[in-house]
Amino acid sequence: MTHIATTKYIALSSFLANAARDERIPAGLIKLIESVADACSSIATAVERGVFDGASGNAHSENIHGEAQKKLDVVSNDIMMGAVESVSCLRGLASEELESVQMTGHEHSADTPDYLLLFDPLDGSSNLEISGIVGSIFSVLAAPATDAVLDESHFLQPGVKQVCAGYAIYGATTMFVLTTGYGVDGFTFDGESASFVLTHPQLQIPENTREFAINMSNERYWEEPVRRYVRECVAGASGPRQTNFNMRWIASMVAEVHRILMRGGVFLYPRDNKNPQLAGRLRLTYEANPMSFIVEQAGGMSTTGEMPIMEVQPDHVHQRVPVILGSRLEVERLLRYHDEAAAA
Ligand code: AHG
Ligand code: MN
Ligand code: MN
Repeated sequence: MTHIATTKYIALSSFLANAARDERIPAGLIKLIESVADACSSIATAVERGVFDGASGNAHSENIHGEAQKKLDVVSNDIMMGAVESVSCLRGLASEELESVQMTGHEHSADTPDYLLLFDPLDGSSNLEISGIVGSIFSVLAAPATDAVLDESHFLQPGVKQVCAGYAIYGATTMFVLTTGYGVDGFTFDGESASFVLTHPQLQIPENTREFAINMSNERYWEEPVRRYVRECVAGASGPRQTNFNMRWIASMVAEVHRILMRGGVFLYPRDNKNPQLAGRLRLTYEANPMSFIVEQAGGMSTTGEMPIMEVQPDHVHQRVPVILGSRLEVERLLRYHDEAAAA
């Protein structure tokens, strides 16, 4: 087998150094991003080795959402925490698998900005036992420049305040996808050099698509604008859209967003009345916000159906939110259907 020299690709570390030199990312953020990327390559290995390391199956515990934790949810959370907690600019972190926010103990430094990290250590973990696609999602916020003790209130910033967001996907290849507000870049893990290298620079989501993703088994719980949209897609060439659509559902937001970045599409986990106390299935601060930042930086759109996701003011770190995101023209159509339903 011949190998193409991966030296022709820029390593993540060089990419970050160049971006800092061009002031596309604050220099202080480099260490944090590299530590998150290191954690992601370790999580990829942990996922791959789960069955050998006794880390497959359920942990017999529940997270804050009342969901059964897999052993690998817990392992991935420990890997991420272990990788970032010594990063001196990181003042605190929040995770899907931690009941409350946790402070690192690092003091505020007057010279460099401080940050907060929010993450879903393992997304789509119901796919683990079928060797399906899983991932990790993260969001970085600025921490207030203060010596005072921080608490959850400092994490409650709308998504427009994110300074960086990204995800890793553990699929046929392991990739790390990143934005610091200057477009979206995709890095593939190269096992030979044991590093992420830039393979997908400046990703752009096509504005048009004929592919949608939604959990159809929830149809009876949806609101009318979403029912109308899906009904029209399913009607295909003989319906009002006059074209045939395709549908995908991988049960991992990382996998759905990655597909949308690669070839367009729209992903919905909308508000439903399955459990009227909850606004939707997905979590705002460590799932919806980082993915919205990425999608919008790649030319797509993201909304709750009523407002841009990244403008939602969080009340608590584990809050849920309805999610509609992807190719711009389809998200605009969904927004129009929501407006028309509200006006009727
Ligand atoms: P997690 O594994 O972190 O709990 O997230 C799973 C989420 C999301 O990634 C996916 O889109 C959705 O839950 C799948 O929901 P269904 O079980 O309704 O398919
Ligand atoms: Mn998740
Ligand atoms: Mn998770």
